[in-house]
Amino acid sequence: MIPNQWYVVLDAAEVSKKPLGVKRFGVDMVFWRDAAGEIACQVDKCCHRGVRLSLGEVKGGCIECPFHGWQFDRAGQCTLVPSNGKNARIPKKFKVQSYPVREAFGWIWLYWGEVEDEQTLPDIRYFKTLQDPRFRSGTFQELWPVHYTRSVENQLDVTHLAFTHAKTIGNPKKPIVDGPLFDWIDEDTMRFFPVTQPDVGNVAKKADEIDMSKVRGFLDFRFPNMWQLCISEKFINFAAFVPVDDEHCITYIRVHQRFFPVPILGDWLVSVMNIFNRRVLGEDRRMVVSQRPIRSELEMDELLVQGDRPITEYRRRRQELKDAAAEGRAPSSIAGKTNGPKDDDGTRSTTAMEEVLAGEDTTA
Ligand code: FES
Ligand SMILES: [Fe+2]
Repeated sequence: MIPNQWYVVLDAAEVSKKPLGVKRFGVDMVFWRDAAGEIACQVDKCCHRGVRLSLGEVKGGCIECPFHGWQFDRAGQCTLVPSNGKNARIPKKFKVQSYPVREAFGWIWLYWGEVEDEQTLPDIRYFKTLQDPRFRSGTFQELWPVHYTRSVENQLDVTHLAFTHAKTIGNPKKPIVDGPLFDWIDEDTMRFFPVTQPDVGNVAKKADEIDMSKVRGFLDFRFPNMWQLCISEKFINFAAFVPVDDEHCITYIRVHQRFFPVPILGDWLVSVMNIFNRRVLGEDRRMVVSQRPIRSELEMDELLVQGDRPITEYRRRRQELKDAAAEGRAPSSIAGKTNGPKDDDGTRSTTAMEEVLAGEDTTA
């Protein structure tokens, strides 16, 4: 896991006043909301005698363990030991570990890493493209028995389209992958462009040979676990790759469409799109759960080719972020790195769709 990052961990709609016990980062956690709807997260284990707090219930601003009624506030501090009396002093060490969590953009985010002061944590950034209020959206999730790095890389893989998805989003007549052109649009986000061609004796073009005026869609991967596929300005798929433990990952897919920006018809279209998305993800699943090893690393026994460049870029950056965290230093700068052609001012010329979707990301 890359430490010191905000991870998407749940769909916000999954957390209610009823405590929710789930595993994330290999830890059994309980998520709940207090009376004001504020989110909280603790280790799902009572510090009294080890019962799962997720079996309990929320009372006012606290979660109550069902075994002997101890209560804990959002910071995990015990506030009541009924057998001692409500006016009895409670030692500071009567506490369950809590994690910094926030609700933003319809997701629950958890900061995984060293936290001295929650007030000084960085902002959460979310793709600007998804902020259009006309979007109707719908979410589904799938649990796969793989390390989350494999799920991420599956969505960075351009060369599988003609094969794995020959019956859906891929074109078996276009196996050649030009580029892919990639561009680190900021320190955490890699954009890349899937361009495929028929094989009529040609070989894959280098990224700087691609005629970008004909390219429309693009994909963004943002560390640590977010991705978006911008098919058009009216149709965007978002994904979050949520680490459950070292051998399991939940992929959340949220489709956004504004062909019909209205409730009933719009939501019907969203469900149809997600039926299709599930089918596409099912095609991936067969392949990805069979990959060995189940976790990907920068140095591993695989032979990557030009078309795998987004995967190589991901592995390199992931390693750098992990190394930097381990060494207590800032990661090297990567924003602006691209294999694409550059304008006179040294920046890559953007496509028409990028122009339409350009803008500042939203923070929370
Ligand atoms: S085990 Fe939770 S109150 Fe006793
Ligand atoms: Fe796929």
